[in-house]
Amino acid sequence: MRSPASTGLSRQKLAIAMVGLPARGKTYLARKLSRYLSWSGQSPAVFNVGQYRRVRLGAGQRASFFDPADGEGSAARAQVAEEALVDACEWLRGEGTVAIYDATNTTRERRATIASRFEGEGHQVIFVESICNDPAIVEANVRATKLESPDYEGEDPEEAVRDFRARLSLYERAYEPIDEDALRYIKIIDLGRDVVLHRIEGYLPSRLVYFLLNVHAQPRTIWLTRHGQSTSNLHHRIGGDASITRLGAQYAERLRGFYDEQARAHGEIAVWTSTLRRTIETARELPTTKVAWRALDEIDAGVCDGMTYDEVRVSMASEAEARARDKFRYRYPRGESYQDLIERLEPVILELERLRTPLFVVSHQAVARVLYGYLMELAPEASPFHDIPLHTVIELQSGPTATTERRHALGPRVDVPHKFMSSP
Ligand code: SIN
Repeated sequence: MRSPASTGLSRQKLAIAMVGLPARGKTYLARKLSRYLSWSGQSPAVFNVGQYRRVRLGAGQRASFFDPADGEGSAARAQVAEEALVDACEWLRGEGTVAIYDATNTTRERRATIASRFEGEGHQVIFVESICNDPAIVEANVRATKLESPDYEGEDPEEAVRDFRARLSLYERAYEPIDEDALRYIKIIDLGRDVVLHRIEGYLPSRLVYFLLNVHAQPRTIWLTRHGQSTSNLHHRIGGDASITRLGAQYAERLRGFYDEQARAHGEIAVWTSTLRRTIETARELPTTKVAWRALDEIDAGVCDGMTYDEVRVSMASEAEARARDKFRYRYPRGESYQDLIERLEPVILELERLRTPLFVVSHQAVARVLYGYLMELAPEASPFHDIPLHTVIELQSGPTATTERRHALGPRVDVPHKFMSSP
């Protein structure tokens, strides 16, 4: 067997340390990175020092607590930062492959400590600094996230903003933007307007850069839907490239009405379909240019493609059992598993992250399950079990701290296929 060094693949675990003043979107980026990494097959965890502080000391510290001249406050902050660091190291000693250390880490001294602790355990360390010089973005971020923070629960919003600004100016006085030649770092300026890379190399770090180049914090709406009922749905056949039925066409018509209503509220909405007939027919009447992605085609059912569920159960009982045992990893013979599908959808996910406009995605059950799971920040392994009914639009509204969901059952009603193999 070839060694990781000879294949060029590093088995080194990765520590990502965030850097930046408060209200620069560090926690948002950490959360996004964590989700992306977990959907890329890694085991990441985020260690947020602010959260450690709230758990250990209770929420609600006023600005003076963050004053470097306040000896007691500084000691307490150093203590919680240390606890989070110890836990991050522990995570990488065990099952974790990536630890994201989410704190301000605004001094050279602090970063030197972090680098030496992780490197001392054989891990690669990358600092991700978020710099934001646009006062409007900082102000919007303060109002969108900090007022919701447990630190200001029940507080008069204007008083909370005043205190947070005082906290900010204390940090600003001590802030040393990252410039240490020995460190590996990615600087993200004004949420991706400029990106500076220093000593970044290797497969995973390069993917992180690509991801960070695409993420933004602009709230927007994504609507997910399956195609209208197809003749294969009607006969409980798996896969294929069937057309939609009369009921499916009725759904397409209702979808057009729904799209028009949303376009009046949101402006033009992009539309993506798969390359299969049933999604193209469903989206045909939507009054905009559509992009047909092969990556959005339904999970490949391999030798089961075109079979009915009963046929599979009778002639391939062991396959049905294997699938029931582990629906996430089960791969149809000469086809795909949900895990494969997640890999196939990576370019779609990156494009979803990049896009700032609202978007309709007309796809298929397994594909919509994966996209829904990703957007709702659910575990990849749960993907095969999300309920994505026919003739229903799932509206997902992203926000700074979470994504909210609304379902629109447009109808017409269709029979639910029986549960064996529970469709793709
Ligand atoms: C906090 O306690 O909210 C953040 C601590 C830090 O990272 O400076």
